[in-house]
Amino acid sequence: MTDRPTGEPLVRLSGVNKWFGDLHVLQDIDLTIDRGEVVVVIGPSGSGKSTLCRAINRLEAIQDGEITIDGQRLPDEGKELARLRSDVGMVFQSFNLFAHKTVLQNVTLGPITVRKHSKDEAEQRARELLDRVGVGHQADKVPAQLSGGQQQRVAIARALAMDPKVMLFDEPTSALDPEMINEVLEVMTSLARDGMTMVVVTHEMGFARRAANRVVFMDAGRIVESATPETFFTHPSSDRAKDFLSKILNH
Ligand SMILES: Nc1ncnc2c1ncn2[C@@H]1O[C@H](COP(=O)(O)OP(=O)(O)O)[C@@H](O)[C@H]1O
Ligand SMILES: [Mg+2]
Repeated sequence: MTDRPTGEPLVRLSGVNKWFGDLHVLQDIDLTIDRGEVVVVIGPSGSGKSTLCRAINRLEAIQDGEITIDGQRLPDEGKELARLRSDVGMVFQSFNLFAHKTVLQNVTLGPITVRKHSKDEAEQRARELLDRVGVGHQADKVPAQLSGGQQQRVAIARALAMDPKVMLFDEPTSALDPEMINEVLEVMTSLARDGMTMVVVTHEMGFARRAANRVVFMDAGRIVESATPETFFTHPSSDRAKDFLSKILNH
């Protein structure tokens, strides 16, 4: 899967800069993600990967530059921001499900409150999505009754229920026991095959090779390399990427 699927820009960051106090956490970021493209973002801890994801759906403000989704600039606040933000699905390392709601309620809440779908319509769609991620039979349980891998698959279904234009995954398998990682990566691989536009921060290099159209390597707030997985893994061009790869591939 190395061809750019559409050549039609969906998410565009241009000249993005962000500081936390004196820390210049995103530096001159230019990145365009096409509709249907799967971009894996890798890099050392603290390089700005999470901040990049959070900036894309405006959980973090940027001080300089522009981010557009489907041609629309993200507003600072208000209803328009809520609407545009719901075009971006986000899956975090810590599943962030509502503990006191059932699995089904977790998935229907957004569609009912934000998208104004009827309860019946939302439940029908939620059940389809829960089946798709392999947890349909868990719909009436609460999150604590599920394994970590199951909870993360519910979190993916919840994000998909909003019909997002793009899905962001920030280290979605990092908090999981090893035997649960693959069941989550399989769901993500199948989403990628179905043409979902995805930005995935992960250290799972097998997933990157299998599902990514492009690998973006970040270090110290900058995009240092952007290449196909094939090129990146066999011929990384920077010393920083070579050093990072030798650490993660030989551990
Ligand atoms: N809310 C915050 N306030 C201050 N510094 C932060 C905040 N969030 C992240 N940082 C710092 O920004 C840098 C990038 O963090 P992050 O985007 O989480 O990196 P990564 O996800 O690549 O590990 C780190 O040095 C981190 O300590
Ligand atoms: Mg992070």
